[in-house]
Amino acid sequence: MPDREGNVTLDACIMDHQQRCGAVSFLQNIENHDTIGMLALDKYGNLSGACTTSGLAYKYFGRVGDSPIIGAGLFVDNEVGAACATGVGEAVIRIAGSAIVVEMMRNGKSPAEACKAAVERIIAKHPSVDNMQVGFLALNTKGEIGAYSIFEGFSYAWSNKDGQQMVKSSFNRKRG
Ligand code: GLY
Repeated sequence: MPDREGNVTLDACIMDHQQRCGAVSFLQNIENHDTIGMLALDKYGNLSGACTTSGLAYKYFGRVGDSPIIGAGLFVDNEVGAACATGVGEAVIRIAGSAIVVEMMRNGKSPAEACKAAVERIIAKHPSVDNMQVGFLALNTKGEIGAYSIFEGFSYAWSNKDGQQMVKSSFNRKRG
């Protein structure tokens, strides 16, 4: 999606099982796409993730959202799990969203429960979320997957040795 001046600028980050990570932001003159978060568990049991985005539609020129920020748009802890976010980056940054999802899994929540709790925290921190979609996706060391969004309409795909599938995420509410 372009910014309000018609430019497409991209942000992205990546993190591996050794918590090595890197990010880029405000890249110009490259391929464009809406936010994609990817989480992986390999055959050795190692987790990794990546997040890439053109950012919020019609953003200010130069705005950088959550997607290139480790702990906000993406977080991986090989002892626990991995999480990524999509939607309004400012809201995700305010709660350190992906890091919070991983911490909730560390404290015993399933990926689905952790994503739901993070979304509920965002809802609780904002007077209104009427125009604010946020979705979280999480994967734990057992290969369990979960997702949750504020509004209906967030989907994710999984793929493993048995096949692949698109899944509609659970959500807090439908649009008015
Ligand atoms: N979640 C993408 C962004 O807000 O830039």
